[in-house]
Amino acid sequence: MVIYAVKNYDEMSRKAANMISAQLILKPESVLGLATGSTPVGAYKQLVEWYEKGDLDFSRASSVNLDEYKGLSGEHDQSYRYFMNSNLFDHVNIDRNRTNVPDGLAEDAEAECRRYNQLIRDLGGIDLQLLGIGGNGHIGFNEPCDVFEKGTHVVKLTEETKESNSRFFASIEEVPTQALTMGVGNIMSARKILLLASGEAKAQALYDSCFGPVIPAVPASVLQLHQDTVIIADEAALSLI
Ligand code: GLP
Repeated sequence: MVIYAVKNYDEMSRKAANMISAQLILKPESVLGLATGSTPVGAYKQLVEWYEKGDLDFSRASSVNLDEYKGLSGEHDQSYRYFMNSNLFDHVNIDRNRTNVPDGLAEDAEAECRRYNQLIRDLGGIDLQLLGIGGNGHIGFNEPCDVFEKGTHVVKLTEETKESNSRFFASIEEVPTQALTMGVGNIMSARKILLLASGEAKAQALYDSCFGPVIPAVPASVLQLHQDTVIIADEAALSLI
């Protein structure tokens, strides 16, 4: 694990965008593992700016997103498909057919999870996986639990996660109770991992993930076992380190 300490959210976003750009320049046909949430928004904005200046080309890249709410269609403005379209895909020249997000409306969610695992394999694995971190240490929607789930699976969201994500919905009742998420195994098989953390609300989870025991109760702690994980975190997120 390499930890880059930066001043604030903007610096974190620029550094992250630099790393993603480098990945695309060195390997234009990269498979990018992408994340949602407020953390990566600034990095996506920066990538769009550089693309508009002619410095970036997404035409040969593919993407796989970490997760999706179960029960939301891609048109729902809180779905992760909608988030990705509006924050990145609509603004760059990525081939939409090569962007992938689990289907939250799949009738057979288990089959959808199996399809997603196979898709990642067919793409040859993930070159660079971008991650945020939940206040409880979750990555994707791998919530604290007793085991590290390997493959894509359906999860029940914790009250804490629903509460925290309710800021994007009209009320907490509207937050879906379940999600489809890549498993820890999918994430760990990425060749490179880039985790971003900003703000004091992430400080404890970040401390536990970097220096605590590797336990499924702190899902991000598993990243200590990955051979090429970079963390970019701001002063507030690093305040306990
Ligand atoms: C959601 C997503 C995660 C994300 C986390 C943190 O639950 N499934 O991928 O990392 O929230 O969100 P934020 O970046 O808004 O703090």
